Amino acid sequence: MTGEEHRWAMRHLATGVVALTTRCQGRPHAMTMNAVLSVSTDPPTLLASVGVRARTHEILHHTGSYTVNVLARDQREQAERFAASAPMEADQFAGIRWRPTLATGNPLLLDSLVAFDCRVRRRIRLGDHTLFVGEVVEVIPARVAEPPLIFTGGGYVTAGP
Ligand SMILES: Cc1cc2nc3c(=O)[nH]c(=O)nc-3n(C[C@H](O)[C@H](O)[C@H](O)COP(=O)(O)O)c2cc1C
Repeated sequence: MTGEEHRWAMRHLATGVVALTTRCQGRPHAMTMNAVLSVSTDPPTLLASVGVRARTHEILHHTGSYTVNVLARDQREQAERFAASAPMEADQFAGIRWRPTLATGNPLLLDSLVAFDCRVRRRIRLGDHTLFVGEVVEVIPARVAEPPLIFTGGGYVTAGP
């Protein structure tokens, strides 16, 4: 059983798409993700699985916090942008509406559906990923009535009226 077989099988799962945002030396940074999971409601806890080769992995070890922005169907361009490994000096957020959250100061994408502002409580290294277990310190509703962006079969699809 190979990693390729696993990757192929996972293409059949449909998920929402999020932008996990952080700050690196004062600059906002974001990466596109779908491996996020609510693990507890008491206390509210969200898990994010980040590949060890992602720059976000290194950043999260320093910042100790992250914000999970759930993307709306009209944020596909943002999902594509944050999935590309642009140079750190590039302004990933050019033309994107955002503000710092109150609790952690990480970027809140104003066009997202809802955001979970999290402080890292545990890190669990598993294979080529680390599970960052975050306590949700604030939920920030933004455009909750919009349909979500969905990822399946290696591409984006949209749902809703
Ligand atoms: C729809 C989608 C979902 C993704 N989910 C994850 C994920 O859950 N974890 C992860 O480590 N990378 C995930 N990626 C890949 C990262 O977005 C990609 O490696 C990105 O370049 C990492 O950015 P960084 O190096 O600036 O941190 C996903 C990509 C796409 C397009």
